[in-house]
Order: sequence, then C-alpha cells, then structure tokens
Amino acid sequence: MNEEMRYLTFALGKGRLASQTLELLEEIGIKCEEVKDKDSRKLIFVNEEQKLRFFLAKGPDVPTYVEYGAADIGVVGKDTILEEDRRCFEVLDLGFGKCRMCVCGPASAKELLQHHEMIRVASKYPRIAKDYFYNKKHQTVDIIKLNGSVELGPIVGLSDVIVDIVETGSTLRANGLEVLEEICPLSARMIVNQVSMRMEADRIKKLIAELKERLA
Ligand code: PRP
Repeated sequence: MNEEMRYLTFALGKGRLASQTLELLEEIGIKCEEVKDKDSRKLIFVNEEQKLRFFLAKGPDVPTYVEYGAADIGVVGKDTILEEDRRCFEVLDLGFGKCRMCVCGPASAKELLQHHEMIRVASKYPRIAKDYFYNKKHQTVDIIKLNGSVELGPIVGLSDVIVDIVETGSTLRANGLEVLEEICPLSARMIVNQVSMRMEADRIKKLIAELKERLA
C-alpha cells in the first residue's frame, strides 16, 4: 500500500446501521476489528493497513461531518439525509434499514387530509413534513417538532396527525393509529463529500463498485 495514501474516513450512524454497514464492508474485505467491541466507549477506529478510519456519530450529525469533509463517506438513513439537507452526494442505496416515511393518525383524521384544512402535524422530521404538506399537497399546516414517541401526538391531543417512520407498523397498531398517506420509502444510504468524490475518485468509485456488486 502506498505510504503517501491518506486516510479515507467513514462516519457511521451509531447503532444497528453501523453494525450492518461494518458487516457489509467486511464482505468486501474491509475490516475493522476494534470497532466491534460493543463495550468500548471509543469513538474512532483505524485500519492502518487499508488506510481507513471509522467513527460513530449520532445519525443526524453524519451528513454534517460529510458536508464539512471531516468524513469522506457517511452511512445514514434516507430520512436523515432528507431532514438534514446537507451538501453531499448520495451514491448508493445499501438496501438495509428499509422502512417508510408516512403521515399517520387515527382513521378519523383521513378526511382532514382531503380538503386543505389547517391541521396540526407532529414530527421528528419538520423539514420532511413541511416539504410534503406545503410543496406536494399544497396544504398549510402547523408543524410541531417532537424528539421521539411521536405517536403520542394524536393520542394526547397535541396534533391531528404525525409524520413518522413506519417499519413493521406495530407501534401504530399498538396505539390505535394507522398509515394515512405514504410520503416515501427509506433505507440506509451511502453519502460522499463533494470534494472527496473528486480528490479520491479512484478509491471511492472502486468501493462503490464493489459494494454494488456485493449487493446485486
Ligand atoms: C421509530 C419510529 C416509530 C417506530 C416505527 O421510533 O419513530 O415510532 O420506530 O417502527 P414500527 O413500525 O416497527 O413499530 P424509534 O423506536 O426509533 O423511537 P422514537 O419514537 O423515540 O423515535
């Protein structure tokens, strides 16, 4: 390996996404043993041999690290990419972490979505909610930002509907809510810093090609 070669840095969204990404990278011969130690509080890991660095960040911070070039490559959910709206190239759908962004609520709220009524929408994803209601549905709504357990919104009377991630639908069912409209499908994506994409084109393109072949 070239002594002069600089490190390619990966920012991975902490949790299941990071584990699945590392498994996939391992399948194409990219290893990082130390990152797998679940008890470790260490945040950054180096693979000297392949000149790679990995760090674990909060999902919403991954596009930030990539936009500023603190990471060349990031892996994060499409929901986060849309919500953070950072300048990065989205280069690959990794196929795992599949779910849907939906408008949900009690069945009775369905008609509130039909007539451009002024309704209240609670979401962890205010940008996605705003884009959907204002630009796609042309419905003026009041968007209320929450940080989790968004399903509470319609139950306790905070909002009429929610915009949230639906995977199995069991959280909705358990709370008497349902999918009213689907906004978009989601999954884990690979993003790349715009300068790195030019400066490290060969290494990054090779990596994308290998991942594509593996995923096919
Ligand atoms: C997510 C999402 C839903 C749930 C969907 O929440 O916001 O609440 O998972 O999954 P399901 O369709 O399989 O039930 P998460 O568990 O990440 O926690 P949060 O509510 O605190 O965001």
